[in-house]
Amino acid sequence: MKRAIEPTSIERTMREDDFIVSKTNAKGIITYGNPIFIEFSGYTEAELLGSQHNIIRHPDMPRSVFKLAWDTIQGGKEFFGYVKNMSKDGGFYWVFTHIAPDFDANRQIVGFTSVRRCPRREAISKIEPVYREMLQAERAAGARDAIAAGTQVLVDLLNKSGTGYEELAFAL
Ligand SMILES: Cc1cc2nc3c(=O)[nH]c(=O)nc-3n(C[C@H](O)[C@H](O)[C@H](O)COP(=O)(O)O)c2cc1C
Repeated sequence: MKRAIEPTSIERTMREDDFIVSKTNAKGIITYGNPIFIEFSGYTEAELLGSQHNIIRHPDMPRSVFKLAWDTIQGGKEFFGYVKNMSKDGGFYWVFTHIAPDFDANRQIVGFTSVRRCPRREAISKIEPVYREMLQAERAAGARDAIAAGTQVLVDLLNKSGTGYEELAFAL
């Protein structure tokens, strides 16, 4: 589904005890959203179910972050990270997300489940400039080389701090 939503500076903040939960099939099509997911997204349940999960993608998010997430979960592992999402009205909300694969009895991936909680303010202020730099690198590199360029910014940062992405996410 193609939409042209103008991002706004209106922020929604998750409450301490909120959990935003969604599930997708193996292709990233939404199959379930809990009431808090529906609330923050601004869409109705009917609009969400059957849509690609990128329906709430914010243009400030680097593509290379999602590449890392998909490589991780399709490899059967769990992904942890910070994501800025966009609501239907163009407003935004930050989450600390955990995405895990759902397996069938034969260890085949049949879908994914994501549980997000409220990120700490300091973590957002640390990750935001990293994402900005990654996005700039992606734009400068052009569509074909965007993922490699964005990833390189992250790899350089991780090498400098001697950590992995997951460790970095938890250390923020
Ligand atoms: C379970 C699950 C949860 C996801 N949650 C989000 C999310 O909250 N926000 C988001 O932008 N993408 C999320 N994604 C990733 C999207 O499927 C998509 O890869 C991303 O929005 C980038 O979209 P694009 O490839 O069209 O640029 C999720 C994927 C899965 C499998």
